[in-house]
Amino acid sequence: MHFEKRILCIGAGYVGGPTMAMIAYKCPRYQVTVVDINPERIAAWNSDQLPIYEPGLDEIVKAVRGKNLFFSTDIARGIKEAEIIFVSVNTPTKLFGIGAGRAADLQYWEKTARQILEHADSSKIIVEKSTLPVKTALAMERILNASPRPGIHFEVLSNPEFLAEGSAINDLENPDRVLIGSRETEEGRKARDELVELYAHWVPRERIITSNIWSSELSKLVANAFLAQRVSSINSISALCEKTEADIGEVARAVGMDHRIGDKFLNASVGFGGSCFKKDILNLVYICQYYGLDEVAEYWEQVIKINQYQQQRFIQKMIHAMFNTLAGKRICLFGFAFKANTGDTRESPAIFIARKLLEEQAIVVVSDPKALPNARLDLADAEGEIHYIEDPYQAAQGCHAIALLTEWDLYRHLDYEKIYRSMVQPAFLFDGRNILDHHRLFAIGFNVFPIGKPALTHF
Ligand code: NAD
Ligand code: UGA
Repeated sequence: MHFEKRILCIGAGYVGGPTMAMIAYKCPRYQVTVVDINPERIAAWNSDQLPIYEPGLDEIVKAVRGKNLFFSTDIARGIKEAEIIFVSVNTPTKLFGIGAGRAADLQYWEKTARQILEHADSSKIIVEKSTLPVKTALAMERILNASPRPGIHFEVLSNPEFLAEGSAINDLENPDRVLIGSRETEEGRKARDELVELYAHWVPRERIITSNIWSSELSKLVANAFLAQRVSSINSISALCEKTEADIGEVARAVGMDHRIGDKFLNASVGFGGSCFKKDILNLVYICQYYGLDEVAEYWEQVIKINQYQQQRFIQKMIHAMFNTLAGKRICLFGFAFKANTGDTRESPAIFIARKLLEEQAIVVVSDPKALPNARLDLADAEGEIHYIEDPYQAAQGCHAIALLTEWDLYRHLDYEKIYRSMVQPAFLFDGRNILDHHRLFAIGFNVFPIGKPALTHF
């Protein structure tokens, strides 16, 4: 088969895999190859057991894999063949040296730039898909153009990804917007137009927006910062609700009905998790500090502080409610993933909660429909008694308390009378997502502790 264009993606993770699957699905005349340095990950992408769980992903991968979507470890060949190279490697928080704990660790990203330089023997468009500090494209350009070769040109574009886990396929298929940042040069505009053409296979033109390359890089960090800020804002108010008998659900509804504010992302919770919010805000904070904007840095840092406070508050509430001792008590966690519909546990509040419970010498029973393999890894070095039980009824059996940490739909529909009868009395339920019917649970006999609402207790 002759393909119109050959696309490569370096990095077969949560973003690279689904994004490229969607491009292959929507652009049957493009050949799409995804490469990774991790051979196990590539083997999993080529198997029936994909390395990540994402609703709808299996179907799309099955429809195109082996036709115009390929997963491979042959990075050199991929680079040689492709005209457009997406870079979607991880950009975690740097843990060492200058900027440790805040700056982005760009070592994986820089390695890809050097790999491209080493193997490319024709011009390429390089697309930053990873989330990167503003001005990173400049560094990419400098590495790629350090020793220019006649007839070979590398044009760097920024095309950040806005998908959320758990809804990645829908987000990719119907994005609010696709953002493409480019240099305002002839080559820059030409490369930008090529990428616009790619997305225009399925995204309405008016939702494909273009900007200068720095605005594009920065917009990604800012979008995540604003989203996380909303969660921290509502969570900060949940603390006040608990002191004043106001109800966070009612407050969120009243506030969110103002169309200028909007009703999305106002669910109070045990705290936000996920691989990106914290790291991207830390990154923003670091950049602001770098430019001497200390007040701006402090402003955004507060979003993270409130998130830590909210998790801390949750555990303190548990200890206080359960007569100031958790030692020897069996506590079941309903959900370990950082949000529903994913097996991802990166930065999940459940990790913090589980570790704190173990420090209090509680016995922890972890239950989750998709995240148990990751939970085991997250708690591998934690000391204390931990059990991993997928079935929620078995998990809750003999427990003193349930802490609901992930808003999986299945937890809404359980037989809580049956669960209550199997637990040690008095039974406690801490709803870290406010998804359950608290009055019904109270009527069954539970002592119920929601977020930002009055507790319902029998004593
Ligand atoms: P991930 O860790 O799941 O995947 C990254 C992959 O890159 C890994 O499989 C790793 O082995 C591979 N890799 C690293 N260096 C490589 C190299 N030199 N050559 C080939 N492969 C290499 O990360 P992710 O969650 O997919 O995130 C990737 C980027 O996208 C990050 O910058 C992140 O901030 C951003 N992002 C993530 C999400 C999300 O929902 N996870 C959403 C939007 C943006
Ligand atoms: C987030 C953004 O929503 C994506 O646009 C972005 O592309 C992505 O980060 C990224 O850059 O990685 P994600 O982290 O996958 O996506 O999931 P979200 O739906 O944003 O949820 C993040 C966290 O906030 C979860 O722990 C969630 O439970 C929590 N949350 C969200 C709340 O506690 N309350 C809310 O109202 C909304």
